[in-house]
Amino acid sequence: MTTKKLFIRTFGCQMNVHDSEQLAELLKSSGYGTTGSAKDADLIVVNTCSIRDKAEQKVYSELGRYRHLRKAKPHLIIGVCGCVAQQQGERLLEKIPWLDLVFGTHNIHRLPELISRVGKTGRPVAETGFRETVPSIGILALPEKGSVSAFVTIMQGCDNYCAFCVVPYLRGREESRKFHDILAEVRTLAAHGVKEVTLLGQNVNSYGKSLGNGHSFSELLRAIGEIEGIERIRFTTSHPKDLTDDIIDCFRNVKALCGSIHLPVQSGADAVLARMNRRYTSADYLDCVRKLREACPDIAVSSDIIVGFPGETDQDYQKTLDLMEKVRFDTLFSFQYSERKGTAAVGLDGKVNPDEKRRRLIDLQALQDRHTQEKNDTLVGRTVEVLVEGTSRKTSRDMMGRTRTNKIVNFTGDRDLVGKTVRVRIVEAFLHSLRGEMLD
Ligand code: SAH
Ligand code: SF4
Ligand code: F3S
Repeated sequence: MTTKKLFIRTFGCQMNVHDSEQLAELLKSSGYGTTGSAKDADLIVVNTCSIRDKAEQKVYSELGRYRHLRKAKPHLIIGVCGCVAQQQGERLLEKIPWLDLVFGTHNIHRLPELISRVGKTGRPVAETGFRETVPSIGILALPEKGSVSAFVTIMQGCDNYCAFCVVPYLRGREESRKFHDILAEVRTLAAHGVKEVTLLGQNVNSYGKSLGNGHSFSELLRAIGEIEGIERIRFTTSHPKDLTDDIIDCFRNVKALCGSIHLPVQSGADAVLARMNRRYTSADYLDCVRKLREACPDIAVSSDIIVGFPGETDQDYQKTLDLMEKVRFDTLFSFQYSERKGTAAVGLDGKVNPDEKRRRLIDLQALQDRHTQEKNDTLVGRTVEVLVEGTSRKTSRDMMGRTRTNKIVNFTGDRDLVGKTVRVRIVEAFLHSLRGEMLD
C-alpha cells in the first residue's frame, strides 16, 4: 500500500502540539505518514490558536500559502483544526474557498471519517460540536524513537473564565481524565523509554475536581512519582488560586518532580487582577512563590503577564514591575492585551491605547531580560544535572539538554548520550541558554 502524506503545521500552546501528535497517530491507521514538506502532502492540517488577534491572523496568512498547492494538486485536502476552527466553524469555509475541512477541538477523532466524506463528495465539511469527554484525549502518541520526553493530557477545557480569555469558549468545560487511565499511559510511555513527562491542562492544579471521587493533583503527582523509569515530571499550567500546600509539598517529597513551575500572574495590581477575574491578590501570589522557594530553594519560576488590560493605569503597571522585582522570574512571557470577541473584558471601560501598550511591553521586557540574565549568570561555575534531548540547534557537533529547572544547556558530547542524564559544569550564561562542559 502506498502511504499518503500528511503535513501538519501547529500554532499555539503545548495542548495544540500534543493534539497534533495525537492526530498524526490517529491518521496512521488511515494510511498516512507525516512529511516535513507541504508540497509533498496529500493532506495538510493547520492546527490553530486564537488566544490573541495576532495568533489568529497568522493562521489566515498561513492558509494563504496553500492556495496555489490546492490548484496544482486537485486531490490535495486542506483542513483546519484547533481554536480558530472551533471559533469560526463554517465561516472559515466561506472566508477561504480552497479549504476542505474544518474540525473543532472536540472532533479530532472524526478526522478519518471526515476526510473520506470530502473524498467521496468533493464538498467541504465543518464539524465543531462539543462533547462531554473529548474522545481523542486518550490516544497514545508514542514520541519518535529516541525521544526522551512526552506530553500527557490530564484534563480538558477550562471553567475559570478569566475576563480576557477565549479558551473556555473554545475548549469547553473543564473535565479531568480518569486517574488510572493517566497512570496507565505514563507506564506505557516509560516502558518505551520515555524519561520525562509533562502533564498538560489549562489549570492542572484543579485536577480531580470534576471527578468527584477524591483524586487530586498532588495525589496524581505522587503516584506518577512512583512509576519506574520516569525521572522527570513537569506540568503546565498552574493557576495561583488553586496552588495548594499539598501541591507545593510535592516539590519536597516527589523526587522526580522537577524544580520549575509556570505560574502565570498576569498583573501585579489587585484592581486589575480583580477585573481580570483571577481570584487572587498580588500578596497571595507572592505567598505562593515564597512557599515554593521554601519547599524547593532552586525552583525556577516563570510566568505570563498582560499589559494594557482595560483600566490599567500607569500606577497599576508600576505595581506589575514592582512584583517582578520582588519575584525575579527566571523567564516571562508577556503580551499586550488583545480584545477577544465574546469575553467579559470586551465590556470594560478604560481601553489603553496601542502606543501606550507597546511602550509598557517594551519596558517590561527590558526589565525581564535583565532579571533572566542575572538569574542565568548565577549558574556559571555550578554543576547541574542535564537530561540530554538531542543535538544542539546551533551546531550538530554539540548536544543539547535541559536542567531540572528547564534551562537549555549546550555542550560538546557524543550522540549516544541522548536519553542519559549527565553532569555538566556551566561555563557561560546567555539570555536563552547556557553553555557547559560535561564532567565524566
Ligand atoms: N491556561 C493558561 C494559559 C492560557 S493562554 C493559564 O491559565 O495561565 C496563555 C497566556 O496568554 C495567558 O496566561 C495570558 O497571559 C495570555 N493571554 C490570554 N488571553 C489574552 C488576551 N486576550 N490578550 C493578551 N494576552 C492573553
Ligand atoms: Fe484562560 Fe484563565 Fe482558563 Fe487560563 S485559567 S485558560 S487564562 S480562562
Ligand atoms: Fe491558543 Fe487554544 Fe492553546 S487559543 S493557547 S491553542 S488552548
